[in-house]
Amino acid sequence: MKIAVMGTGYVGLVTAAGLAELGHQIIGADKDAEKISRIASGRVPIYEPGLDELLAANVRKGRLSFSSDLDAVTREADVIFVCVGTPQHDDGSADMSQIEEASRLIADNLNRYKLVVEKSTVPVKTSHWIKRTIGLYKKTNTDFDIASNPEFLREGSAVSDFLQPDRIIVGVETERARDILCGIYSKFKDRLVVTNIDTAELIKHASNSFLALKISYINLISNICEKTDANVEQVAEGMGLDPRIGGRFLKAGIGYGGSCFPKDIKALVKIGEDLGVDMSLLKQADEINLDRIRVLMEKVKQALWILKDKRIAVLGLAFKPETDDIREAPSIGVIRELLREGARLRLYDPQAAENMKSLFPAEPERLEYCASPYEAAEGANAILLMTEWPEFAGLDLNKIKAALANPIMVDGRNVFEPAAVRKLGFEYYSIGRK
Ligand code: UDX
Repeated sequence: MKIAVMGTGYVGLVTAAGLAELGHQIIGADKDAEKISRIASGRVPIYEPGLDELLAANVRKGRLSFSSDLDAVTREADVIFVCVGTPQHDDGSADMSQIEEASRLIADNLNRYKLVVEKSTVPVKTSHWIKRTIGLYKKTNTDFDIASNPEFLREGSAVSDFLQPDRIIVGVETERARDILCGIYSKFKDRLVVTNIDTAELIKHASNSFLALKISYINLISNICEKTDANVEQVAEGMGLDPRIGGRFLKAGIGYGGSCFPKDIKALVKIGEDLGVDMSLLKQADEINLDRIRVLMEKVKQALWILKDKRIAVLGLAFKPETDDIREAPSIGVIRELLREGARLRLYDPQAAENMKSLFPAEPERLEYCASPYEAAEGANAILLMTEWPEFAGLDLNKIKAALANPIMVDGRNVFEPAAVRKLGFEYYSIGRK
């Protein structure tokens, strides 16, 4: 069986490499010919631990190839995983034009039965539209099936998430589609959950929004901690020991970013509202997340009072560690606010600096990119920690203190122990604890 993976973004590349690793014959396809030739020559356009090796190994074993000839790839494939982008419109709804384009391409090339599997995060009912579009534009009377197989990978651990999944959701409407997908994922048959298509689509949105809600919830609790003697880290630990709650995704900080949570929660709000459902619970969670920037800025001002012409080192730009992705990163809102107040910034991130430069180009005296945390700290009036990269926990704080003009640290991710940092002579601010 030949499997095509359409789209070579995060989801597409990991799906292509992961399915090949499971032993299948995969063609990764993208209309961007230049991108395809870069990937085919081993230059992976994203930073994702383990992905380069997995792609290269499967190309070497002859199980994975790449092509930008979408018509040929579609004709050759028995199964097509649609992993194209679904960016966001201003009103929060998803832009489905790439999904429509892929559907029409499949309709044009429907030379024999094909199973079309949507893997991009899409609103519930998208399969219905894919099916309708293929049905409307197909030129022959050939059969096809639609299925939904949402992807739950996290950036930074996408490869292991794919190869050691908690669950595989398979939304189908025919036996034939179920058999094909269950066959593809036979290695994980103990973790397969087979549902109808609407359910599968909704599981994805409902899961991501629930996790975002969990983060906003602990951030809300951290606001209470800050006004009392409670410590949010201990509150989270105490809550998380209840297996009904679970300790993960209860880390208070400057909020969630990334390509999924901010977009998915807004999309689910829009889906619900379009269906006449009151979605204020999720709207609140989104607002709490936006408010994290204000919470952090308040701490910076509490430490520095007037920000104009203050030098500030910002450590961590990516929306989370182990990725170069800055999409919806809380650091963007903070940098914007700091610049608006006239601060002079020295930025450092182990992977994401290049991406940040396209949003905030370096400007002499106003914004500099530094090669190390120590360089960023040089002469700064305070240091802000925005992403909990493991290397930050191991920083030589004495060296940082010596580099700083004032030993002030605002830790937006609770990386350090307050007592230990204060003992070294820092004025230390963190989230939800004294
Ligand atoms: C998420 C989902 O976890 C994944 O299942 C889905 O497929 C895509 O969206 P990802 O965006 O890669 O994955 O990152 P994730 O690790 O979930 O973190 C998202 C954001 O939440 C990050 O900005 C992170 O810093 C923040 N976060 C996470 C917290 O602030 N606190 C937490 O306790 C956990």
